[in-house]
Amino acid sequence: MLNHDYTLDFGDKLLAFIRYVFKNHAEFRHSCLGLYAKFSPIWGGGLQSAKQIVNFSDNSQPITLCSPIVLAAGANKNGKGINAYANLGLGGITVGTATRNFRIGNTRRPRVGLDEFNRLIYNSMGLNNDGIEKISARVEKQIGKARKNNFAVGISVAETPGIAEEKRLQDLLETFSIAYEAADYLEVNVSCPNTGEDRLDLDTAFMAQAFGSIESFRKTASCRKAVYAKLSPDLTDKQMLSLLELLSQFGVNGVILGNTHPSEKLFYSLPVLNDKGTSGGISGRPLYENTFGKISLAKKHFPNLSVVACGGIDHGLKVRDLLNEGADFVQIYSVFAFRWMAGQKMMKELLCPSNL
Ligand SMILES: Cc1cc2nc3c(=O)[nH]c(=O)nc-3n(C[C@H](O)[C@H](O)[C@H](O)COP(=O)(O)O)c2cc1C
Repeated sequence: MLNHDYTLDFGDKLLAFIRYVFKNHAEFRHSCLGLYAKFSPIWGGGLQSAKQIVNFSDNSQPITLCSPIVLAAGANKNGKGINAYANLGLGGITVGTATRNFRIGNTRRPRVGLDEFNRLIYNSMGLNNDGIEKISARVEKQIGKARKNNFAVGISVAETPGIAEEKRLQDLLETFSIAYEAADYLEVNVSCPNTGEDRLDLDTAFMAQAFGSIESFRKTASCRKAVYAKLSPDLTDKQMLSLLELLSQFGVNGVILGNTHPSEKLFYSLPVLNDKGTSGGISGRPLYENTFGKISLAKKHFPNLSVVACGGIDHGLKVRDLLNEGADFVQIYSVFAFRWMAGQKMMKELLCPSNL
């Protein structure tokens, strides 16, 4: 397994300059991805035509993508301007994570930081979003155009952090069922490290209850849509495999491996970012080796489960390696902060490796 690297070109250096100029406005800089997507046709962006279809053996609606590289949750939290993201060399987008109602997220600032040397982002946004009703309504308006372009739109949902335990299941199911009407596929985020609340992926009893109820809901729905669970990259092999066993029993189609890495568990400490006094999660290049290992392990033990690789993917040859390992597609986010026209470049590396 190689952590393939790229040499910095003029665009990457320009992007480094932009990062420097906005170094004190990290959140603003992040929110510019939508604008960058909108205007990217000016500097060579546009739709991809590397169509691929992810089929499911349980008759869930297939996911059609125009590139195997999808934008990970968190980059477009509220479902605005979705179709512009197709210009970034992407085959789809996961909107959200959405909760039942509007959330301001963590109040401590800054909530996002960059480590230039390691090409990583640390964040503690705390699931800020407009609430599932507004987000789903926006997705519904835009999804027709997205489907025409084979640009898949998923919605990521989570329980409202901090909600009373007896209301937790109902809260998650309501959010899920509203998202289900609008999206092509669903992601259940059970691994957010940024709210200071306990993660669900370590609560086996709740996981069984939640995915059991989700499966009952899907059985009564007029159309069966694919459901993914997004897990944390810090799970031990044993924890991950027993979770995959549980998820398979409840008809979950696949897993996203994985979310941001809880930063306290990585090799150095970062400035405190969240309201509960911890540092949130790490994304970007240092996650890749772990991502690759998790994909290999999941595919080895659960060959029929759809797996989606996410974490530190910043080169087309990494996409190739992960697809060869059995991933159905990959998701990216942090690379857009470090690599100019990252999606287009990665697609070139994937499709024409001989030109490298
Ligand atoms: C600023 C920021 C916000 C994020 N918000 C979410 C989120 O709301 N839901 C989620 O499932 N993942 C979220 N993520 C995690 C990403 O979707 C992804 O799993 C992670 O960044 C690893 O991929 P990467 O190394 O390509 O960035 C967020 C990541 C960042 C950097």
